[in-house]
Amino acid sequence: MVQRVFAWVLAALLLPVVATADGSGPTFWMPDQASTISTGIDRVFYIIYWISAAFFVGIVVAMVMFALAYRRKRAGQPAKSQTDHNMAIEAIWTIVPLGLAIYIFYIGFAGFMDFRTVPANAYEVNVEGQQWNWSFTYPNGYVTNELHVPVDRPIRLTMTSVDVLHSFFVPEFRIKYDVLPGKYTTAWFHATKSGEYNVFCTEYCGTSHSQMRTKVVVHDPGMFQPWLDAASNWIDTMSPVEAGQRVYQVRGCTQCHSIDGSSGIGPSFKGIWGRTEQMKSGEQVVVDENYVRESVLEPQAKIVAGYDGVMPTYQGRLKEDEIRVLIAYLKSLSGEGS
Ligand code: CUA
Repeated sequence: MVQRVFAWVLAALLLPVVATADGSGPTFWMPDQASTISTGIDRVFYIIYWISAAFFVGIVVAMVMFALAYRRKRAGQPAKSQTDHNMAIEAIWTIVPLGLAIYIFYIGFAGFMDFRTVPANAYEVNVEGQQWNWSFTYPNGYVTNELHVPVDRPIRLTMTSVDVLHSFFVPEFRIKYDVLPGKYTTAWFHATKSGEYNVFCTEYCGTSHSQMRTKVVVHDPGMFQPWLDAASNWIDTMSPVEAGQRVYQVRGCTQCHSIDGSSGIGPSFKGIWGRTEQMKSGEQVVVDENYVRESVLEPQAKIVAGYDGVMPTYQGRLKEDEIRVLIAYLKSLSGEGS
């Protein structure tokens, strides 16, 4: 009976290893390794895992043996003698765990330093978290809401939030770091495999926290710069309405303003152009170019009755050109302009 329990415990502990023996690709515990630091982080994880597993087995075995050896005897039978002190055992169980703790601290700290030390030649991308959207700004000012990076090059992310706490997490890169309002934080990675990887927000940030996901697209060697050059031209190559739609989708408007007439955190954009809106202050305002521009740059100036003034400002975040095409898009949603 004892042997059978023991065999099951051992099988359960070995299962993850048997299931992950080939060493590449996702494993039982961990997703694919796609950045330079992932192997080091996984090594720390597995070392701690195996130390814990060994102690777990040792403790269970000792517990079962002691339970059997010292179980209640029949009346009148004398109990076995108990040793109350053993210097050698005491020394072993002090020195061995101390050595292990120092070792775990060492490998953990070395891994942490790799995770926090940004290589000097890193390519810099600015990251902005906003309920419930990510945006990424490249050195030439181009903005996307999927992160695009070259393979085999360290990438430095300079991150901030326009509203509440978020956290940037890419499981395959083994990076996760908080994104804070009013402060910059940095994270870095060096992708070793091209492809697409999921990005998650791992700080509870309100209603649609679980929807705050995007992708990292890691481009093949030599393909990133051509992609960036072509994509950066969007405002000149798209019609104003298409370009405005892109601003609407990429810059986080979609999270609060629907285009199907349904009411969200802010008023729907459907049919909004030219409408007379009742403001909280009692004032009535016609939705025109100047009102839209003001609402983008100074959202708190006029708040439509029935809504809260929660919109963040886009001052310094949208260029005049982008506001211009956004206005063209709003007009098109009301069947005006073209
Ligand atoms: Cu952003 Cu959760």
